[in-house]
Amino acid sequence: MQPNPQHLDTQRYAKCIEVSKRVRFDIERDVIRGRKLDFSSKFLPDGLARMDKLAFLTEGERRFASQIQGRTYANMFGLVERFIAPKVLEVSRQHALGDQTAFEALVRFTDEELKHQELFRRMERLAAEGMPAGYGFLPQPNDVARAVLSKSTWAVLALICHIELFVLAHYRQAIEPDAALSPLWKDVFTFHAREESQHAILDELEWMRENGTLTAVQRDQGVDDLIALVAAVDGILQAQAKADAAYFFSMTRKLSVEREARVEAAFLGAYRWQYIVSGVQDERFQQVLGGMVDAKQMARIGGALAPILE
Ligand SMILES: [Fe+2]
Ligand SMILES: [Fe+2]
Repeated sequence: MQPNPQHLDTQRYAKCIEVSKRVRFDIERDVIRGRKLDFSSKFLPDGLARMDKLAFLTEGERRFASQIQGRTYANMFGLVERFIAPKVLEVSRQHALGDQTAFEALVRFTDEELKHQELFRRMERLAAEGMPAGYGFLPQPNDVARAVLSKSTWAVLALICHIELFVLAHYRQAIEPDAALSPLWKDVFTFHAREESQHAILDELEWMRENGTLTAVQRDQGVDDLIALVAAVDGILQAQAKADAAYFFSMTRKLSVEREARVEAAFLGAYRWQYIVSGVQDERFQQVLGGMVDAKQMARIGGALAPILE
């Protein structure tokens, strides 16, 4: 094969296309299959919901907390995929008149994210059918996407790579081993993770390619942008944890002020774990990021993360 002008590893893009074709799913035929949600089971595994330290909660209350968190998980993915799809589409244009294999891999990636948004909207509707009124998902996907996409491509690709790597980590570490999970939710996570595996590879390839085009000053700006993006994600998590805890309290027995504070802190701790910590601690993410930034930039990122990691 001729080396292409952008020095792309075409074989890796080709492999992503091949696997993407093999694991491709249809929302209705493969995942939902006419099923409704079973509200006697958990929606999110214990390893992600992280409510096990609250011994004063009953089993039913912990299950309800996992259902609220599962619903928020679906909405959060719908939210992040709103900016992932347009960013990947934008990046794909750089290959449009170049490597057609890379172009096809990224077009498929975009298409899959549009489908995932529809899948998560379906799950939100199924959750709404069986849960008492009062739940609210606060962030507006288009507003968040507009703010994220205003940042540098290097930073947005870093954020996207981190997200797609934590999807895989969640699946391997918490979802796959949990036998008590709702079967429909387990299928949603399984089919989603299969397509995300290729996305994580493509994110890394595109992020590294972008990195190679930047000057030192531009990369330093990228680091600042990435820190700002993580802070914005944390702001969303703080507001949603408060809203989800309030919804939880409105549907359960009266708890003491001290216990309510612990429940709210547990929601925020779980969301920080799910959407920030499990990604930044991912070995692959650390390797790729560590290969791009210098020690001072890494320390700046570490300093910004410190209050979230506590
Ligand atoms: Fe996705
Ligand atoms: Fe993805």
